[in-house]
Amino acid sequence: MVALALQGRRVIVGVGGGIAAYKACELVRELGRAGAQVRVAMTEAAKQFVTPLTFQALSGHPVLTDYFDPAQEGNFGHLDLARWAELYVVAPVTADLLARIRAGMGNDAVTTSLLAFRGPVLLAPAMNVAMWENERTQENVAALRAEPRFQFVGPGAGMLACGDVGAGRLAEVGAIVAAAASLFAPGPLAGRHVLITAGPTREYLDPVRFISNPSTGKMGLALAEAARGMGAKVTVVLGPVGAVERSGYEVVDVVSAEDMAREVLARVDEVDCFIASAAVSDWKPETRAAQKVKKSEGPEALTLVRTPDVLAEASRRVSGREKRPVLVGFAAETQRVVEYARDKLERKGLDAIVANDVTAPGAGFGVDTNQVTVLTRDGKQRELSGTKREVARSILGLIQELLPPRP
Ligand code: CTP
Repeated sequence: MVALALQGRRVIVGVGGGIAAYKACELVRELGRAGAQVRVAMTEAAKQFVTPLTFQALSGHPVLTDYFDPAQEGNFGHLDLARWAELYVVAPVTADLLARIRAGMGNDAVTTSLLAFRGPVLLAPAMNVAMWENERTQENVAALRAEPRFQFVGPGAGMLACGDVGAGRLAEVGAIVAAAASLFAPGPLAGRHVLITAGPTREYLDPVRFISNPSTGKMGLALAEAARGMGAKVTVVLGPVGAVERSGYEVVDVVSAEDMAREVLARVDEVDCFIASAAVSDWKPETRAAQKVKKSEGPEALTLVRTPDVLAEASRRVSGREKRPVLVGFAAETQRVVEYARDKLERKGLDAIVANDVTAPGAGFGVDTNQVTVLTRDGKQRELSGTKREVARSILGLIQELLPPRP
């Protein structure tokens, strides 16, 4: 699929000056292996990390490094490069390069050719976690993300080259190639908008204490990635899960069940499918103290009240409409899995429910694998297992069958 989508495509790889520049070598090779024609442009700083000769050898073409060099410009300069390409991939995008791209500057071979380029741009950031989290950087990311022409892949989280831990790692080369391919392949969900809730919610009882659960959002984010890979526009309403890869889809961060309900209800009318994979807290403390509650001797009682059921409210809101989204719920059970899940499907007015036995080995919170039973309204039942990514793709495949044909 990746190879087919990239076969014969003309791709520029713009290399920024960060330690991850060495991974751009692998990227150029993998794009070439997938059948793309690749040309490389480098920033001044990138040359400090990898020589242009390396990229010339890997791409089989001269590398644009200096737009003042008459030899380079006369041969295949920044304007020719921009006119030639169908896709521009920038990897790694450093904080500085990101700022310059956002500002529309043209002061090296990458930014000049990018400014002259009219097609889709895939940005793969890599930098120190503090630089990534810097307000200015995040403003630049948000501004570029808001433009449909710019897509992000990564950064991933983990141990960084500088020794810090957090978000800032260049996305895996395979993920960058897949993201590039998805920009060419229309995909079976092209033109569809999928809304997903993921992660836990937090219900605060005072400024420092809350009720929550151990959901990591992995399943929901795997669904988001799979839906994006199939060409859908994706919005994830995400509870607090810490640093995670947010590549190529919109993420709306929320904290409580009420926040999640508000953000979902504001969008559910417009989407083709709503998948509720979040582990929403069913209760919240009746009151939230403005200040930290001081402990006292003896037992303490906490009164809990119900939170909104995000999925049930969304279902009620769209029920009876002529054009309503396909509604998919999750059911985490510890016993009588299918029976309880079927009951939830009926009660919440769903089209499908993904049931899993969270006590089974290799399923449930935090692990990378899952084993689920998908029940549909027509009474069918299907078993799926594998990595959360594989299961996500299979679930999206089933959802695709439930979507009404395109007008
Ligand atoms: N859900 C939701 N909002 C809530 C509770 C649940 O959107 N406040 C969604 C979950 O995302 C999931 C589905 O509803 O898709 C099932 O959630 P679950 O808590 O397992 O089911 P309940 O109907 O709450 O039943 P019970 O707690 O009795 O198992």
